[in-house]
Amino acid sequence: MGVKRLGLTPLESDMTVAEHQFTGRGTLTETFGLGTDPVPLEPYKSKDFFELEKETIFGRAWLYVCREEEIPAPGSFIVKDILPFGISALITHTKAGRIQAFYNSCPHRGSIVVKAPEGNASRFSCPYHRWTFSNEGDLLGVPDKENFFPTLQKEDCGLAKIATSTWDGFVFINFSKEPEVSLEEFLGPVKDHLAGMYYPGASNPVVYTAVLDANWKVAQDAFIESYHIPHIHKNTIGTTFASKLNPYSRLIGAKPLGAHRTISLFGNADYVVDPNNRVEALGTVGEKAGSTMTASTGEDVERYRNHAAINPDASEHWSMDIHQLFPNFHIDTGPGSFWTHQFWPLTESTCFYEVRFYVNEATTIRERLMQELFIARVGEVVLEDLENLQWTQKGVETSGKAVMHLQDSEVAIRHSMSQIVKWTKSATVKEALA
Ligand code: FES
Repeated sequence: MGVKRLGLTPLESDMTVAEHQFTGRGTLTETFGLGTDPVPLEPYKSKDFFELEKETIFGRAWLYVCREEEIPAPGSFIVKDILPFGISALITHTKAGRIQAFYNSCPHRGSIVVKAPEGNASRFSCPYHRWTFSNEGDLLGVPDKENFFPTLQKEDCGLAKIATSTWDGFVFINFSKEPEVSLEEFLGPVKDHLAGMYYPGASNPVVYTAVLDANWKVAQDAFIESYHIPHIHKNTIGTTFASKLNPYSRLIGAKPLGAHRTISLFGNADYVVDPNNRVEALGTVGEKAGSTMTASTGEDVERYRNHAAINPDASEHWSMDIHQLFPNFHIDTGPGSFWTHQFWPLTESTCFYEVRFYVNEATTIRERLMQELFIARVGEVVLEDLENLQWTQKGVETSGKAVMHLQDSEVAIRHSMSQIVKWTKSATVKEALA
């Protein structure tokens, strides 16, 4: 009935649901339970909305900060600036084996305690007056303690903790003093959707960062829709992520996951590597759809393909999935590997962007070549997106219109914005997640 009501072409018996999605008019927005009205532009440029987001979203949501592999053993630590608040966070693997984040600020007179971006230490010594702390955050030593007053109690003067929790190797923090919901409750259906996911090369990332002249949502939106691919990426992935069958690179699937969401992108199953392009031929494993988007061996590709969250509709026209975790973190899964994006607000019109490509240590020259090709190709695609963002932001800020019009392959943007607005209006996190 739903198909008829939307005026879609009938579902032909030999077509999969995924094929129907990109050959008929899409129904994804309906399956998300979202309306189809134009979406306001104000949140992409308003200083007031930016402040509201900081308080109600970044101040209350669980925020991804690193992989456990970045702090693999007791004593290892990293320092990470949490940019919306200008807070320096010290994330440690404690002697007791826990992962715990602290405000990287000395309880004496506030100095930054650890200046190194990463390292290994059983204790930290503040550079100003040499108070020392264990990597559990406890105050261990105070030079000339006798000259302080009885109000100085060691147990009150440890490093201030930031709520910390981990899920499947991903470390999250929360700036609420007492988070209203656990990380598990916050992730909700994502936990089951990605349970048992394989994360190869997690200790071997290639990292690129950039400060962008764009609101964090303008930047993030560019990585959760496929409508732009045939235009912005015409000369890079225009022939692998679109084809005569699907010239506008319509999504082949999408699903809401509580506050989060997942989408699946089309891959041109008829794409074949030009035999004269020896580099590309050597750098692929003969995969059809999305063949130029992998850095992995056939074994890894098979292992990925067996997971239910990878190509969930089992379409032969699949290239990759994007699992977007609210508010600002993406886990992308392609044939045999994963990579991540994160978007941190700086101001209402600027943000900090980080992409991490995870690749196994190469054991053969061919594997190394595949990795170089993969990173160069995806990096080129990312640069095409980033270059475009400043023009989008400028247009948004100077638009004579108050709204934007989204199509069905932009459903993740609509869902993302609906969740952002919901969080800014909800008095409690439980209400926002309901
Ligand atoms: Fe750290 Fe004084 S500010 S010891």
